[in-house]
Amino acid sequence: MRVLAIETSCDESAVCLLSINTSATKTRISILGNALHSQIKLHEQYGGVFPMVAKREHARVLTHLLKLVLKEADSPVSRKRESVSASLQQNVKKLLEREDGLAQELLSFISEFKKPKIDCIAVTNGPGLEPALWVGVNFAKALSLLWDIPVLPINHMEGHLLSSLATVKEGQLEIKKTKLPLLGLLISGGHTELVLMKKFGSYKILGQTRDDAVGEAFDKVARMLGLPYPGGPEISKLAEHARQRNIRGDIALPRPMLHSDNFDFSFAGLKTAVLYALKKIESINDDVRMKFALEFENAATEVLTAKVRAALNASKALSFTIGGGVSANKHIRTQMQALCENEFPEVTFLPPTKSLTTDNAVMIGITAAYKFKTHKRYSKTFKANGNLSLQKQKGK
Ligand code: KG4
Ligand code: ZN
Repeated sequence: MRVLAIETSCDESAVCLLSINTSATKTRISILGNALHSQIKLHEQYGGVFPMVAKREHARVLTHLLKLVLKEADSPVSRKRESVSASLQQNVKKLLEREDGLAQELLSFISEFKKPKIDCIAVTNGPGLEPALWVGVNFAKALSLLWDIPVLPINHMEGHLLSSLATVKEGQLEIKKTKLPLLGLLISGGHTELVLMKKFGSYKILGQTRDDAVGEAFDKVARMLGLPYPGGPEISKLAEHARQRNIRGDIALPRPMLHSDNFDFSFAGLKTAVLYALKKIESINDDVRMKFALEFENAATEVLTAKVRAALNASKALSFTIGGGVSANKHIRTQMQALCENEFPEVTFLPPTKSLTTDNAVMIGITAAYKFKTHKRYSKTFKANGNLSLQKQKGK
């Protein structure tokens, strides 16, 4: 089965083509073509993502990315120009009327490539920045019309969760049967959630952040320290540096909700504590940056670890994974591994493949592969939903 996947929920425009082979015990996935355009440079000046700028940029690059993917996958270019009926052209133009020139570009592209062998188009329809999501959704729907291929809407967070179960083997992705229940800690720029999956497609959110997401806190603290956007990897690098040199800071930051009697998180207070502590410091030099990065990362990781411990105890999960951009963080990965090894030997820890942690289209295609087997829900009328929740899918 071949899936074309599209992701535009935030500041990465991504398209990929996957070939998926499923057996009773495992799923093997070959990436036939994969293209990603990061908008980081564009948003860097604002210190965060501007939704309307993101929307315009997605519309500008999507056709180009699709072309790259089909070329990489060796999809044949058409010798004669493929004709598209006037009414179909009209429908595509209507669908993409708000996407700045995308309709025209797509229609001229369609005449270049022969209809590729694709069984389904998977596209992120939420959660995320709604104007950005709509570009991907409408692009997928337009392709679906032009090529007569069904579309499967995919939840971005489900993408982070399920793609975390894939490992790389001999250049291919492989997903083995996972022991359930599975606990997932989803940590990204927009979310911090503890999710329990008792059976595939049925999710219970055990806890979530009450204010900032952990990735957002990493980014904001990095900005206070004068580090570039996105700040997560920058903080992580500095903190690792400090650990290697055995540097111990004299800063003490709080561990919000560490002992609270639930699985919720709060990171706004931790971020504000950094702000106040920095106000007392005359000049922010590299040494100060390193000490703050270390203490901030330790504080955030301690809270995450404590909540995972409580959730593993309460849920009796047999597998545990982390997903989302922040799960690329070395310290968090090491601490989660140690937690499982030392305290929960019966739980299999499934750390995600690094290249799949930050936003990409492969995670959306992988999720479609799961859905294709059991929960296929093709739709022509679905909408982008910035607040789409995982839990709403319960029982589907
Ligand atoms: O999943 P993602 O790519 O986008 C969203 O869905 O939000 O996550 C992006 C977030 C950003 O906040 C970024 O700073 C953070 O992931 N991030 C990291 C690391 N790499 C990316 N945070 C901490 N350590 C990292 N190594
Ligand atoms: Zn994400």
